[in-house]
Amino acid sequence: MTPTQIILDCDPGHDDAIALLLALASPELDLLGVTTVSGNQTLEKTTANALRVLEFVGREDVPVAAGADRPLVRERFVASYVHGETGLDGPALPPPTGSPVEAHAVSFLAETLLAAPRPVTLIPTGPLTNVSLLLSLHPDAAARIDHIVLMGGAIAEGNVTPAAEFNIWADPEAAQRVFSSGLDVTMIGLDVTHQALLTPAHAERLRRAGRVGTLVGELFDFYHRFHHETYGFPGSPVHDAVAVAHVARPGLVETSDRAVVVDRGGELSRGRTYVDLWRRTDWPVNAHVGTGIDADAFLELLLERISSFDA
Ligand code: RIB
Ligand code: CA
Repeated sequence: MTPTQIILDCDPGHDDAIALLLALASPELDLLGVTTVSGNQTLEKTTANALRVLEFVGREDVPVAAGADRPLVRERFVASYVHGETGLDGPALPPPTGSPVEAHAVSFLAETLLAAPRPVTLIPTGPLTNVSLLLSLHPDAAARIDHIVLMGGAIAEGNVTPAAEFNIWADPEAAQRVFSSGLDVTMIGLDVTHQALLTPAHAERLRRAGRVGTLVGELFDFYHRFHHETYGFPGSPVHDAVAVAHVARPGLVETSDRAVVVDRGGELSRGRTYVDLWRRTDWPVNAHVGTGIDADAFLELLLERISSFDA
């Protein structure tokens, strides 16, 4: 089976880090590179975190390119309350020894897309600033994108405000640019990710698996503190890993083709993804919207793949 070529555009971030590890451990995927964006933490920290995770598993061969250090229009807002001051609080991960490539993430994306022998699936798991800039600056390269499978938005949930999910809220103008691009977009939103919670029992199984499993267990311990206190959930949603799993194993996530429009308005509705679930408008259908997930299958895949690093 020819692996799917992917690029991960991310803001590590605990769940981004777990998504990156899942991508590295999945033979169905060929990770061409990682691009970083300001989101969960500042660009400097999300970039350092991507490097730290790759170095931890000996994958310094995967290039990292730093991108936008703030949203297109909105003020930068980092989610230290979820991911801590480093963006990966919890485990004692050493600082990176390597550096990102010289090229800006948007240039890296364009060069990689144009050079790829086969169309590429782009998996954005942070604010969509880099992706929107790619669409505007390099339309020829953007045309080489086979699928965009993004973690973001929600049909009926909100996490940063009652109306909005963080990645879309952080840069709603960028998000609308992506949803209106005409490219094949899949939206993995909170309605799906909140159905598949990593629990303390899963974390214990991971710790027993070895060094990388222990790292994920330590990431979970810090990350779960927020979700348990805020939501009272018995576990924590590993949002970004669901997007990667959907590419590695199509069928885990159920989707419906629907129209999605992003609210670019004021504070109350900013970043809302209006999903026309019941086709009440004449908006163009522009996304495969996640509506359900085989949670057990996703979690077993995640544990199996993370454990495989230490096999
Ligand atoms: O709302 C969840 C999303 O925002 C995830 O991608 C998480 O990493 C944060 O970026
Ligand atoms: Ca993220």
